[in-house]
Amino acid sequence: MSLSDSIPNNVDLGSDKKLLRALEKWQPNFINWWMDMGPEGFQHDDIWLRTAVSVEAGGWAQYDYVRMPDYRWGIFLTPNEGERTVGFGDNATSKVWNEVPGELRGLLRRIIVTQGDTEPASVEQQRLLGKTAPSLYDLRALFQVNVEEGRHLWAMVHLLHQYFGRDGREEAEALLERRSGDPDKPRILQTFNEPTDDWMSFFMFTMFTDRDGKYQLAALAESGFDPLARATQFMLTEEAFHLFTGETGIDRIVRRSIEAAKADPNGDARGQEAIDLPTVQKWINFWFSSAVELFGGEISSNAADYFATGLKGRFREKKKYDDHQALEEVYSVNVIEDGRLTSREVPLRNAMNEVLRDEYIADCERACRKWNRTIKDLDFDFELKIPHRRFNRSMGIYSDVHFDLAGEPISNEAWEKNKTEWLPTPEDREYVQSLMKPCYERGKFASWIAPPQKGVHGMEIDHEYVKFQSEKN
Ligand SMILES: [Fe+2]
Ligand SMILES: [Fe+2]
Repeated sequence: MSLSDSIPNNVDLGSDKKLLRALEKWQPNFINWWMDMGPEGFQHDDIWLRTAVSVEAGGWAQYDYVRMPDYRWGIFLTPNEGERTVGFGDNATSKVWNEVPGELRGLLRRIIVTQGDTEPASVEQQRLLGKTAPSLYDLRALFQVNVEEGRHLWAMVHLLHQYFGRDGREEAEALLERRSGDPDKPRILQTFNEPTDDWMSFFMFTMFTDRDGKYQLAALAESGFDPLARATQFMLTEEAFHLFTGETGIDRIVRRSIEAAKADPNGDARGQEAIDLPTVQKWINFWFSSAVELFGGEISSNAADYFATGLKGRFREKKKYDDHQALEEVYSVNVIEDGRLTSREVPLRNAMNEVLRDEYIADCERACRKWNRTIKDLDFDFELKIPHRRFNRSMGIYSDVHFDLAGEPISNEAWEKNKTEWLPTPEDREYVQSLMKPCYERGKFASWIAPPQKGVHGMEIDHEYVKFQSEKN
């Protein structure tokens, strides 16, 4: 472990001068990007942040006040676990690769660049949110997520520099040049070009969009390209906090919504500057349907190639499955024929996106059951639901026809008639936006969100998680 180096790392950067120099050249460009596109207005403040300093389970993080531009972004791979073999696909049982096999170079580069591109994109999407944070606790959480997405970019850039030569260096530069939402040089995936401009959307993003990230990373953590597997394994440990932020953030909105409705003479949460549950449901519908697109086509030859070549496995491929070839089985996909749903059997390998999407949806439904338990515990009559995967899709086989929340095909007229009930309207957005006022007083929370159950890493909820060094307006 080398923490004294210009770039903290456990990949023995010091012994590879050429690689070290290339990364040291990229570093100032990264900082320029961070100053330009990172959180606006808070670069001089002291934030109570955790920094990854090792890969040991339980002891990898250090907590202290840090100014974000001084954050120590490092390169950490989960240690080698002895002789590993490729866990699945046509190359199963051969030794894992520590160099890029020539014939897989293009595929692997695309996987790494696509993953890498999402990391800075989300920082860009969230760059203005600090100005309206509902508490210091939440402000800190936002910045923690942002610096770690920055570190995830480092993780992918390290792989590009070390294993892809000149092409890799060019891709690493391009990762700092694209901009979320820029019509001329947008980020690669559409969801990462949508602004995240209110805090309920931030919690939805960390709940649903980051959770796609978790499943993509978990599939890559099975990869036969060992450096990618080990990089993504460590990223997952950081990712867990992002998901926690989203899942508990929505729970806190729900909690406050019910308290407010009960306190209001008309039983209306909006009357108390909180967010009513039907509006929360609309945000869930919007963000879930956007995130679920990220898994790619339902029937996909790319997905089959990624699996066949041993680059991208299923969720918990090694632990959960016995047949790692996946050549005999079929998967039945619901397709639309003449406007009606029928099922079609496709070779399992071609349905790998759908298999991963199944895992993701089950996880979202688990979280939703927890929110509903909160509602029940507070003796309130409402049920939140995760919409069907076919609802509101703009890519894949379900994008040509409209579906309702339960996944049943509906006419264009029915869609037009109902969509304002299902998805945020401009008025809803305006209302939620009207609540977005900063609440920077220690231990205080904005009117629309309940405090968390506990503080960060043994600290009190009213800890001074951010020490401002400049006036905020
Ligand atoms: Fe990330
Ligand atoms: Fe994340």
